[in-house]
Amino acid sequence: MSDPRARPRRSSRRAAPDPARAAAYDVLAAVRNQDSYTNLVLPPLLRARGLTGRDAAFVTELVSGTVRRQGTYDAVIGACVSRPLPQVDAPVLDALRLGTHQVLAMRVPSHAAVGTTVDLVRARVGHGPSGFVNAVLRKVAAHDLSGWVRRVAPDPAADPVGFSSVAYSHPRWVVSALAEALGDASGELDTLLAADNEPPKVTLVARPGSSSVAELVAAGGTASPRSPYAVQLDSGDPGEVPAVAERRAGVQDEGSQLVAEALAGAALDGPDVRWLDVCAGPGGKAALLASLAGQRGARLLASERLAHRTALVAGATSSAGEGLLGVLTADGTRPAWRERAFDRVLVDAPCTGLGALRRRPEARWRRSAADLDRLVPLQRALLRSALDAVRPGGLVGYATCSPVLAETSGVVSAVLAERVDVQLEDAGPLFERLPGCPGPIPGTVQLWPHRHGTDAMFLALLRRS
Ligand SMILES: C[S@@+](CC[C@H](N)C(=O)[O-])C[C@H]1O[C@@H](n2cnc3c(N)ncnc32)[C@H](O)[C@@H]1O
Repeated sequence: MSDPRARPRRSSRRAAPDPARAAAYDVLAAVRNQDSYTNLVLPPLLRARGLTGRDAAFVTELVSGTVRRQGTYDAVIGACVSRPLPQVDAPVLDALRLGTHQVLAMRVPSHAAVGTTVDLVRARVGHGPSGFVNAVLRKVAAHDLSGWVRRVAPDPAADPVGFSSVAYSHPRWVVSALAEALGDASGELDTLLAADNEPPKVTLVARPGSSSVAELVAAGGTASPRSPYAVQLDSGDPGEVPAVAERRAGVQDEGSQLVAEALAGAALDGPDVRWLDVCAGPGGKAALLASLAGQRGARLLASERLAHRTALVAGATSSAGEGLLGVLTADGTRPAWRERAFDRVLVDAPCTGLGALRRRPEARWRRSAADLDRLVPLQRALLRSALDAVRPGGLVGYATCSPVLAETSGVVSAVLAERVDVQLEDAGPLFERLPGCPGPIPGTVQLWPHRHGTDAMFLALLRRS
């Protein structure tokens, strides 16, 4: 995206920073200082600064593109400075990354990208570093992005993981984990990494009984072929769609919609009236499940460990009506419910989130392989607890928004090995709209951004005998 707001730069050496670039810079600082996410910090900051329309779009692209491509840009900047990157002050590095994104990916003329970044640094950090930033960005502007990748990425023949890590801006361990998850399809790795760097369209969910695809299409969206409930927005603020503002519809990736639909749609003998969502926050799947439950006389209990996220679940499910049994704050590993009490149970487990990098680009820089040491035991405990909660003959859906094998097949295999009373069901036929989604164990499902255009959701369906 070029800068559509291009305006002549003032010649004064004390030019005030451009408001859009200053906003982008402040978002990066807030995300870094508060360990927050851009998609949480950006909208209120845009509102507070009165940035709308093309200005807001420019800031959004500047922030999210910079965060996405940080790995590539750091390699480029590292080649242009004489000290190790960790020794560059964080506020200066933020500005260098923003400037590099404008030069290499946004078609902002180099002189404008360099000049506005220098103004920004002078105003926000001080006069001293502005000269340094000027010198570095002029070096960055000497080559285009592919020229830089050729110069700074390792030789792909000698170090394919290192090459993909720099060229596609993912940490090495994430590249290796995604290659392993692709298995026989590891030839698709670079396509997957490239897809992670493409911002997805906003997808809405029409919750049956509360809103309809036709209503959301009439509000300006396009029906998606991937889910019977999905409508994509080309542009605009989803909060301005009346059904979303009234919480009769929501924002939800098609992959998440299909996971909820698959659990609700799997064949079940006997009673089918009590459903449980063990990890419900912030409530996207719970809201769809409660709507689907309400359509057929079932009711969902939505449970979540953190009280502030339970409040989000209550908001998301506020239009569910009869389909909602209640919303509860509870640790799913220490259940607040009786054993064998439910007919269908969802465990949408806390995970690395490496399947949703299109939407949460900074997750790749926040997570480490060590997180798996904490997450995997928790995921197993939650799955065990869900299996205790379901009645004989009932179904448990175990889902992650990560394709990392330790979190998907690793957890499912370990728990299956402990329980003779549990069998894996074939979930594949429940995803007939998305062919080519076999998971790492036969019967499980793995969706992929590059193949299906969804987040990389994993689902295993387990039946208790
Ligand atoms: C991947 S998110 C669930 C997303 C949710 N299903 C949705 O569609 O909006 C995982 C959730 O599990 C919650 N969680 C973590 N540990 C938990 C535990 N021991 N018991 C219950 N919930 C837990 C987290 O707070 C987080 O809200």
